[in-house]
Amino acid sequence: MSASTAPGLADSLDRLGTETAFSVLARAKALEREGRSIIHLEIGEPDFATPAHVVEAAHRALLDGQTHYCASAGLPELREAAAHDLSARRGGIPVDPANVMIANGAKPFLFFTILAVCNPGDEVIYPDPGFPIYESAIRWAGATPVPLALHEDRDFAFDLDELASLLTPRTKLVILNSPQNPTGGVLSAEDCAAAARLIAGTRAWVLSDEVYARMLYEGEFATVASDPELLGRTVILDGFSKTYAMTGWRCGFAAVPTALVDPLTRFFVNSTSCVPPFIQLAGVAALTGPQDEPLAMVEEFHRRRDLVVDGLNALPGVSCRRPRGAFYVFPNVAGTGIPADDLARRLLDESGVAVLAGSAFGTVGKDNLRLSYANSQENLHEALRRMKEFLS
Ligand SMILES: Cc1ncc(COP(=O)(O)O)c(C=O)c1O
Repeated sequence: MSASTAPGLADSLDRLGTETAFSVLARAKALEREGRSIIHLEIGEPDFATPAHVVEAAHRALLDGQTHYCASAGLPELREAAAHDLSARRGGIPVDPANVMIANGAKPFLFFTILAVCNPGDEVIYPDPGFPIYESAIRWAGATPVPLALHEDRDFAFDLDELASLLTPRTKLVILNSPQNPTGGVLSAEDCAAAARLIAGTRAWVLSDEVYARMLYEGEFATVASDPELLGRTVILDGFSKTYAMTGWRCGFAAVPTALVDPLTRFFVNSTSCVPPFIQLAGVAALTGPQDEPLAMVEEFHRRRDLVVDGLNALPGVSCRRPRGAFYVFPNVAGTGIPADDLARRLLDESGVAVLAGSAFGTVGKDNLRLSYANSQENLHEALRRMKEFLS
C-alpha cells in the first residue's frame, strides 16, 4: 500500500520531531553499502566496548532465568545502587531509593516527564542549541517551547538575565543540560547556583539532564539539585548509555520527585512495562563494580577533544571553542562562506565525513556543525584531513 492510499494518520504527528543523528547515520550507512569510506562523527555514542564484567553479569542473569517481567519502576537492587551513585557523585545530596526509577534509557524520562507535568499552553524553557527530543516532546504535549539561548562567546553558557526574563507564572518546567549536547558546554558552579535561585523563585519543575555528568575534563560537576529548595522538584536524569558505553542496552535512571513517581510508573506500565531484569542486573554491576574503564574512556576523550579542537581551528573559516565536557564540539563555520546545512551535506556526500548541521539542535546554532569525537584518533586525523582538503 502506498503512502497516498494508506488510511489516515493522527494530526498530532505533525508535532512530533525527530533526531537528525539517526537519519544522517542511515544515509552514511547507505553510502558505505555502496562501497564509500565514511568516518562517523554524527552519532553520539562511545566507540568503546561495554566493560566485560558488565556483559558477564548480564550473561549470568540470563542463565539464572532473569528473563521475565519485573517491577515497572525498577529492581530494588538497581534503585538502591543508583540512589547511592546519584548522591555520591553530587556531593552527598539525599536521594531515597524510593525516588529512583529505572527506564529503557534516559530518553523515556524526558518524554514522560514532559507529558506528566505539562498542560497545553504551559511554557517549557529548554536550551537552544539543545538535544532535539526536548522540543519534540514539548510540542507533542501541546506545551509552548521557550528556547533559552546558549552563547558561543560564553562557551555556550546561557545568560542569567535572559533566563530571568523567560521565567513567567506560566513556566511549568525548566530543562537544563550539563555537560551539554550538542556544544560540550558545562554549567559553571556560579551560574548553576544563580540559576537555581532564580528557578526557586517560581513554581516550575526542573528536569536536569545529567547523562554526561561523568564526562568532564576540567572543573567540578555542578547540579541545580544541590539547591535544597529545588531538590524536591527536580528530576535528576542519568544513565548507562554514555558513562559505561551501553547505548544499545537501553537503560537509564533518574531521581524523581515523590509526586512524579506514580505518574511515571503509569507511563512505564502503559508503554514498555519494565526494563528487562537481566539488563538491570548488568546495571548494578556497572555501578558497583570497578570504575577503571569509564575513567580510561574519559581520559581518551580528553585527548581526542584537544586533537579535534586544534585540528578544526587550523581549518580555513572554522573556529571552535574548547568545551569542558561530553564528547561533542560545535565549531562555527560561518567563515567558510558555505551555509552550515550545505556544508554538513557536502562533507558527507563529497568527502565521506558524517557530521550534523547545528540547525538540527534549534535556531541558535545555524552557523555551526556538531561533531562527535567518539571515534579513534586515527579516524579523527583522517576526518580533519578530508575536511581540510574539502575546504581548501
Ligand atoms: C543530552 C542527552 N540526554 C539524553 C540522551 C538519551 O540517552 P539514552 O541513550 O540514555 O536514552 C542523550 C543521547 O544522546 C543526550 O545526548
